[in-house]
Amino acid sequence: MSKQDFQLFSMVPLLRAAEQSSLNGRPAAIGAFNVNFYTQAEGILEGLKRADAPGIIQASRGANKFQGGPDKISAMVLAAMKETGHDLPVSLHLDHGDDEKGRECVDNGFSSVMIDASKLDLKDNIAATKSILNYAHPRGVSVEGEFGKLEGVEEDVIHESTTYADPFLVPHFFNESKADALAVAYGTAHGPNKGKGTDKLAIHIVQASYAGMKAYGQNENHFLVGHGSSTVPKELVEEINRYGGGIKDSAGIPMQKIQEAIAAGIRKVNIDTDLRLGITAAFRKFFHDNPGVEKKSPNVLVPIKQALDSHPEFIDPRDYLKTIDIGLLRVHPRGGDLEPVMVLIKERIAAHVEMLVRKFGSAGLAASVERVTLAEMAKRYDRN
Ligand code: G3H
Ligand code: 13P
Ligand code: ZN
Repeated sequence: MSKQDFQLFSMVPLLRAAEQSSLNGRPAAIGAFNVNFYTQAEGILEGLKRADAPGIIQASRGANKFQGGPDKISAMVLAAMKETGHDLPVSLHLDHGDDEKGRECVDNGFSSVMIDASKLDLKDNIAATKSILNYAHPRGVSVEGEFGKLEGVEEDVIHESTTYADPFLVPHFFNESKADALAVAYGTAHGPNKGKGTDKLAIHIVQASYAGMKAYGQNENHFLVGHGSSTVPKELVEEINRYGGGIKDSAGIPMQKIQEAIAAGIRKVNIDTDLRLGITAAFRKFFHDNPGVEKKSPNVLVPIKQALDSHPEFIDPRDYLKTIDIGLLRVHPRGGDLEPVMVLIKERIAAHVEMLVRKFGSAGLAASVERVTLAEMAKRYDRN
């Protein structure tokens, strides 16, 4: 395959395919999965392929820092696409960005960026969203904003409680900012402890936001996003805890609620925590099932095992993978010390991603995505 076959797409054609499917009576959303290292990208791509689904791979500012910058992330994701011969439409998106990181990502191979200015008041939030958009759209790159506040920690944005998005202002936000997508806070929360968040789910906020967008004819070019949507599978938490972990009070968003939110108008569903749990469970099980395995590769596996043994609370793979050379995490672990555990991780992520995108209704949608280049997207923005 030529290099050109591995281009990354704006989120717009992917989200539009989900909207079209929904308008045709089959509610759908595109899965957006966070990535931190190579095998995670491969697992996501494999899951998407099994379901014939378009998908979004996203990297936070933390992921960018971990990998050493957006150029490293985009090279890593393209390498995974090449390795797996992935020819379904994929976007590479900056998750919870700011202006500076947004511009850096636009310049370094990302096809979509999010600006999370949710801590600002509405007027300043819209202005901040517009500012990055004025840089991204002339380059064909799509933009996601955030309206309302999700409970929990996200980079430097920490909210102690939920501030719901005001659905009556959603069309206004789109109209003023021209954002392609908008994360609306409707009661979900980041991380593995969504107990309180789940009680607070207010799907009518999504419904009313979407109804307003339709009334203004915005729904074919602008789309609603649900953050904090991990399901936090009990089996994974149990597996982590059985093999030395210590996750307490875990709770995710029930799948039925995510599906209700999709039926109400959500077109992009963000998942990070589920993948972190799957990766951590795989590492813990690997060390448990293969006693002494770390001694065979002391430079790589010993520091990871030590970090996991001394920190039962770790669920973020970056907390224990940072003990090893980052170079190993940017490439296929072919024949290396990490390969056996990475094989488990890839399979686990692939299976979970496939299951999720089937439930999100985006399985089989790959062929309905218009394969419009970023250059052509830029022209279209310019005409409007
Ligand atoms: O909400 C987004 C993700 O969970 C990203 O998390 O900032 O720790 O990479 P991170
Ligand atoms: P989770 O913590 O529920 O996976 O949320 C992911 C997310 O919103 C990424 O932006
Ligand atoms: Zn988020």
